[in-house]
Amino acid sequence: MIIGILKEPDYDKRVSLLPENVKTLIDLKVNVIVEKGAGENAFYSDQTYINSGARIVTRMNIFSDSDLIVCVNSLTEDENAKLKAKQALLTAFSPLVNVELVKRYLSSDITSFSMDMVPRISRAQSMDILSSMATVAGYKAVLTAANHLPSFFPMFMTAAGTISPSRVLILGAGVAGLQAIATARKLGAVVEAFDVRSAVKEEVQSLGGKFIEVEGAKDDASAGGYAVEQSEEYKQKQQQLIQDHAKKANVVITTAQIPGRKAPILISKDTVENMLPGSVIIDLAASTGGNCELTENNKIVEVNHVKIIGNSNFPSELPSDASKMYGNNIINFLKLIIDDEGNLKLDFNDEIVAGTCITHHKEVINERVKSKL
Ligand code: NAI
Repeated sequence: MIIGILKEPDYDKRVSLLPENVKTLIDLKVNVIVEKGAGENAFYSDQTYINSGARIVTRMNIFSDSDLIVCVNSLTEDENAKLKAKQALLTAFSPLVNVELVKRYLSSDITSFSMDMVPRISRAQSMDILSSMATVAGYKAVLTAANHLPSFFPMFMTAAGTISPSRVLILGAGVAGLQAIATARKLGAVVEAFDVRSAVKEEVQSLGGKFIEVEGAKDDASAGGYAVEQSEEYKQKQQQLIQDHAKKANVVITTAQIPGRKAPILISKDTVENMLPGSVIIDLAASTGGNCELTENNKIVEVNHVKIIGNSNFPSELPSDASKMYGNNIINFLKLIIDDEGNLKLDFNDEIVAGTCITHHKEVINERVKSKL
């Protein structure tokens, strides 16, 4: 089998597989071709891919010669049209939302894998790109907030007076939120965090954050580690609590999302108007509508001297390590679907393979996606 690694679009500096991952593939008897300059923005030169055993080719060759094409971002309309029947594609294309694309892969007999559908089970942790990229986003969110804030994060006692530490409020203590708590604490801020899942309280506290709570949350352990929809009464109490804490915060980082739905609004326009002048909101859920009513995706909005940053592209701002984590996630998944001869072998009795494979031989494999059609 030939695996082809594409260069990502201009807005993304990451690359899906690193030279070290190419070596692993070659050991697995796979031939690897790499689009010219694919790793350049993440500081992996063409020569390092060649040294690992890959061939450098044009983008056109990746489409014409690969049995399996690998990339981080989903393909454009034109590029999807270039895929050939029986070719395989491994990327992340939100199949629960992009149902039309699923239908297209189905009718054109493409074997498609979407890495955002890797089940969140312990055995699949090493393949979980959402967790890896959320780790990067949580870290970068704090550094970005610190850059925009007109104050220090840590407390200072100097001859020129005492500087109080900044107060950081994190909404949603999943992967991104926990990383944001850890990073903000390392920079010396006072950190508070809120989540509808009270199960995360101990994790927040162990990182040095204070957990703020609303009584009476629905906590559904059967939802695979994700949050569930809450009652109206609960949402009102939550709104009040968040408003009270946001008013005192210098930085608010929001990370709350429910998979496959628009992000819940946690910070209203009214809350923003009552926040401290100079404070900063980083909204990590910007791409799914944002947790703040005023967020605009990939823009910085300033209202009443409060900056609202809706950056959806943080992993691209740390391209070397983000690619390293991404590449390791992909290689761990590939090891599951490559046989001893270096060919694709799909065992749909394995829930990781059945969850990540969206279409194969003109059938929809992932059960959740199937129910959407
Ligand atoms: P996650 O699912 O692990 O965590 C989300 C957390 O939010 C969960 O703990 C959940 O219980 C909580 N939550 C849900 N609804 C809530 C509510 N109403 N109030 C308070 N908490 C609530 O997700 P993960 O992996 O941490 O990702 C977080 C966000 O970061 C997502 O929106 C994701 O799309 C985004 N992200 C953004 C990137 C960027 O560059 N901006 C890059 C990677 C991820």
